Amino acid sequence: MPEAMLEVCNVKKSFGGLKAVDGVSMSLPRGGITLLIGPNGSGKTTFVNSITGFLHPDGGHVYLEGKEITGWPMYRICKEGMVRSFQLPAPFGGLSILGNLLAACECGPGESLLWSPFKDMWRTKERENVREAFAVARAMELTSYWDAPMAETSTGHIKLTEIGRALLAGAKLVILDEPICGVDPVMADEVFSFLVRLRDEQDLTFLVIEHRLDIALKYADYVYVMNQGTLIAQGSVDEVLNNRQVKEVYLGS
Ligand SMILES: Nc1ncnc2c1ncn2[C@@H]1O[C@H](COP(=O)(O)OP(=O)(O)OP(=O)(O)O)[C@@H](O)[C@H]1O
Ligand SMILES: [Mg+2]
Repeated sequence: MPEAMLEVCNVKKSFGGLKAVDGVSMSLPRGGITLLIGPNGSGKTTFVNSITGFLHPDGGHVYLEGKEITGWPMYRICKEGMVRSFQLPAPFGGLSILGNLLAACECGPGESLLWSPFKDMWRTKERENVREAFAVARAMELTSYWDAPMAETSTGHIKLTEIGRALLAGAKLVILDEPICGVDPVMADEVFSFLVRLRDEQDLTFLVIEHRLDIALKYADYVYVMNQGTLIAQGSVDEVLNNRQVKEVYLGS
């Protein structure tokens, strides 16, 4: 069996007496779009927080491409290739889209006092970063907005820029917490189409939390469903939609 991009075994996280995540396991194959769904408060964000270093899990194990990363700090996990977005994005509002993209790139040696006088040493890296940031903006069809201040752009552009930032940070696995929340339907399909292109052309792996199932389910390769801190179902879109427990949770029937 090929090695999974991400393997999560029995992760737990409680807040006082509340078991927000109560033993969740998950396996993400390389190059797929996996959806994590469940009602409000079911523990989706806490699960992601616990595997990406934002919170320390109370138990369980996390492996990225076979390497154990359980409890690592977020910056180390990010360097290892697993990058996540937040449910409430916090872009640099005063910077342009390009500025926000560039902020995710690795800095050149010019940041160091020692190297800063030697311009030739770091200008090449800076030029490379700008070229790569423009390439990402082009792939997201954001080139006509590249110099728009982030605070004046649409939610869809903010969400796309977050995905672009993950790419520029060198992500192999991107975890997105509600990437189309507050995004108009046309743009929402564009966001998911972009993920499909990245999966197919660059073999990137995505774990996506989303409530807007009418849109998200069209693009999912596999689905996990959480309720009250545990997984209640997993499988293909058809399998989970026909699952009795899932119907009960979503439709109360
Ligand atoms: N920092 C915290 N302190 C205490 N309780 C928390 C904390 N974060 C989350 N919770 C609780 O843990 C449970 C799971 O919350 P979580 O945000 O993970 O759910 P979710 O599935 O992401 O919900 P939503 O779909 O609304 O984003 C909820 O009961 C929530 O109130
Ligand atoms: Mg959440």
